[in-house]
Amino acid sequence: MTQKLDLGELVAAVHRDIQPQLGSGRVADYIPALARVDPRQFGLAIATSSGETASVGDCAVPFSIQSVSKVFTLTLALGRVGDALWRRVGREPSGSPFNSIVQLERELGIPRNPLINAGALVVTDAILAGRPPQVAVAEILAYLRDLADDPRIRVDREVAKSEADTGFRNASLANFIRSFSNLSNPVADVLETYFNQCALSMSCIQLARAGLFLAHGGVDPITGHRVVDGQAARRINAIMMTCGHYDASGDFAFRVGLPGKSGVGGGILAIAPRRASIAVWSPGLNAAGNSLVGALALESLSRRTGWSVF
Ligand code: DON
Repeated sequence: MTQKLDLGELVAAVHRDIQPQLGSGRVADYIPALARVDPRQFGLAIATSSGETASVGDCAVPFSIQSVSKVFTLTLALGRVGDALWRRVGREPSGSPFNSIVQLERELGIPRNPLINAGALVVTDAILAGRPPQVAVAEILAYLRDLADDPRIRVDREVAKSEADTGFRNASLANFIRSFSNLSNPVADVLETYFNQCALSMSCIQLARAGLFLAHGGVDPITGHRVVDGQAARRINAIMMTCGHYDASGDFAFRVGLPGKSGVGGGILAIAPRRASIAVWSPGLNAAGNSLVGALALESLSRRTGWSVF
């Protein structure tokens, strides 16, 4: 781009582009509290390295960030235990749905990557480190409030309870991993922490702000605070690119070309290295469990800006 990008115009144009598809997709109904969300909502927020922001639509409405939280718990765990984490979880795309159990048996309880449910449970176990779940949840919440520079962020206890009541698949994954001794805390504690981290409720504006350090080699460009070292930040971006959309990660790289992480609440966090952090939300999901309209919006944004890393 030779002329200066007008972010306000950009978000308005992306908003226009997705109008015909608004409301498409199916809201996640395996977590009952998420099934009640209106699928016609759409929000988009961009936070740039130079401190500019732009947002549109339902950009200030808090939503359940679900698996987007896995990026932040991975960051937190790498800060706590460093490279030792990679002895317990891999970094290869799984080519499987987010809640798949099949690879775990063959791969002896070492999940393929930290962004599928199995891997995220191991990451959460590393954060727990023998403490009560409430303490770990409070740490994760404080971390997100700090990164987003917003103390209003909260955990939606209704969503956490709804998932705990129906989380049979995650309970299976956790028990299975524990049978290979790759969880050191009680399964119930790992699950409680995990369900609460997934139930973090944030708006696109808050989420884009929280992810900004990932566009900047691990340093928050607004405060100058180092969140993680540069190598860790590059690696987190690489894992988002290759694993952030589960078995649809290749398609997301093909269409959008940015590291991204989706959640079944309909949120996607995408990182344009050295440029911006982008959060989009629209609750209708595609067959892979990723926001249908959210991905379309990012595709439009990437095309309009040329921000694809490729
Ligand atoms: O564990 C679960 O099933 C949910 N709390 C999170 C799954 C999720 O967000 C998958 N993302 N697309």
